[in-house]
Amino acid sequence: MKETNDIRPIRSYVLRQGRLTKYQANAVKKFSAAWIIPFEKKPIEWENHFSNQDARKIIEIGFGMGTTTAEIAYQLKDDNFIGIEVHTPGVGNLLNLIMTNELKNLKIIHHDAVEVFESMVEIDSLDAIHIFFPDPWHKKRHNKRRLIQEKFLATIYPAMKKNSYLHIATDWEDYAQWIINTIDQFDGLEIKTREYFIKPSYRPDTKYEKRGVGLGHKVWDILSVKR
Ligand SMILES: C[S@@+](CC[C@H](N)C(=O)[O-])C[C@H]1O[C@@H](n2cnc3c(N)ncnc32)[C@H](O)[C@@H]1O
Repeated sequence: MKETNDIRPIRSYVLRQGRLTKYQANAVKKFSAAWIIPFEKKPIEWENHFSNQDARKIIEIGFGMGTTTAEIAYQLKDDNFIGIEVHTPGVGNLLNLIMTNELKNLKIIHHDAVEVFESMVEIDSLDAIHIFFPDPWHKKRHNKRRLIQEKFLATIYPAMKKNSYLHIATDWEDYAQWIINTIDQFDGLEIKTREYFIKPSYRPDTKYEKRGVGLGHKVWDILSVKR
């Protein structure tokens, strides 16, 4: 009998197989070398991946199909972005958007964001973190899979510079309250405004947001700042 002492970590995602179109597969094959930063247990060398060294450094966690990510990078050309995602079709889709829009300020890490922050993101290095519509895991027994937890904030917090911001958007009221409570109880992050229904101008509607709004959900934009 096989024995193991490994305790499987609780992940915030389930890897869905298949549904990789030819167009996405082709992008992964052709463009990964130039636009994907490989997962490694060493700090990201931003200066080797981006030409503008004075730009703000922004990481987006869980970009899905990447449409919003590409739009933001297109609008904010003076900022440098890294998008992190585990879902291969999304990575292929964003690679195609990077090529079509000739985005030089956006790279991708195709890996679990928790491990990326644990191994690759340096202390005091980021100007902002974006997390748009993280999986709500709304059934009680699945709540433990939610990305936003005290432990997760403790993992990303050291990477944030003083006065940098964390922007989380969700269309699940219960998750919104959970996120607000988790941040309120976390020492070092301060919610910037309690006006959650005002969307910052740089964030276009995302795919998941449109679905939520179609279901009659309201959208919370929760912005906090590192003190
Ligand atoms: C509900 S979708 C939202 C996608 C996109 N932000 C949007 O609004 O359309 C959440 C995404 O987060 C990704 N995700 C969840 N946990 C992750 C993790 N630990 N690391 C990287 N990606 C993750 C999932 O694969 C999924 O694509």
